[in-house]
Amino acid sequence: MKQTPFTLLENTPLTAEVHQLRLRGDCAAVTAPGQFVQVLVPGQFLRRPFSVCDRSGDTLTLCVRRVGRGTETLCSLPAGATLDLLTGLGNGFTLDHAGGAPLLIGGGSGVGALYGLCRALLAAGKSVTAALCFRSAEQIYYVNQLKALGAAVRVYTEDGGAGTRGRATDALALPHSSLYACGPVAMLAALDGLESGPAQLSLEARMGCGFGACMGCTIETAAGARRVCRDGPVFPGKAVVW
Ligand SMILES: Cc1cc2nc3c(=O)[nH]c(=O)nc-3n(C[C@H](O)[C@H](O)[C@H](O)COP(=O)(O)OP(=O)(O)OC[C@H]3O[C@@H](n4cnc5c(N)ncnc54)[C@H](O)[C@@H]3O)c2cc1C
Ligand code: FES
Repeated sequence: MKQTPFTLLENTPLTAEVHQLRLRGDCAAVTAPGQFVQVLVPGQFLRRPFSVCDRSGDTLTLCVRRVGRGTETLCSLPAGATLDLLTGLGNGFTLDHAGGAPLLIGGGSGVGALYGLCRALLAAGKSVTAALCFRSAEQIYYVNQLKALGAAVRVYTEDGGAGTRGRATDALALPHSSLYACGPVAMLAALDGLESGPAQLSLEARMGCGFGACMGCTIETAAGARRVCRDGPVFPGKAVVW
């Protein structure tokens, strides 16, 4: 874990709710896709956790969905602003057990977090399918970015406004050797209930410290109580008691 200042390079709206933030700073502690950072948002006491979508050299990319005061502030910051980040938090995804054809399922604000993972899996020679799941067409983002990496991208919307009408669980019908997923807890629970092969699920929880000290993010797993920030946020399939 490292506390370090970052400069906001770009704050780009991807949809009406989701912004992509590119930040420059010391990224040395960011070592695996699926790790997260804790951002000290101006005017907020508690830091806010966000998955690292991608790290390239000294640049981090975050996708932030506006849901409250902290994210509203972040999405309105101008380029050039300085933010205080705790980086290198959590255990990210591993490429172990990916097999030749991993399936990545992202839901809502969890879609962005799969970008760096997708890049790493493709670099390892895997044939990646990314299923991006949204409520409606207006919420879709990152389709072209993941296609540009070389993934086969499938879009699902609940209302059928774009792509295939359906939910994340419908994407499990796509052929795959392993499953990686990030999105709302209900989506992860449903996927975990249906999937029998190797799986890694990235969880979100309300967090305090973000580095294991406050126990505020504790969840129940088959192996006992675990902290999402320290023991996760990525957990293997069938580990979490939903
Ligand atoms: C490990 C991790 C990774 C995350 N990655 C991302 C990401 O890549 N992009 C992204 O947009 N969001 C991500 N989140 C969720 C993000 O941290 C929250 O949306 C944010 O902290 C809300 O701050 P706020 O001040 O805007 O909202 P608040 O005013 O604090 O709350 C507004 C609403 O958001 C809900 N909320 C707040 N915090 C969370 C949370 N941690 N999880 C779920 N719902 C929450 C509240 O229940 C409330 O309904 C992640 C959370 C975790 C734990
Ligand atoms: S947020 Fe404090 S222990 Fe996880």
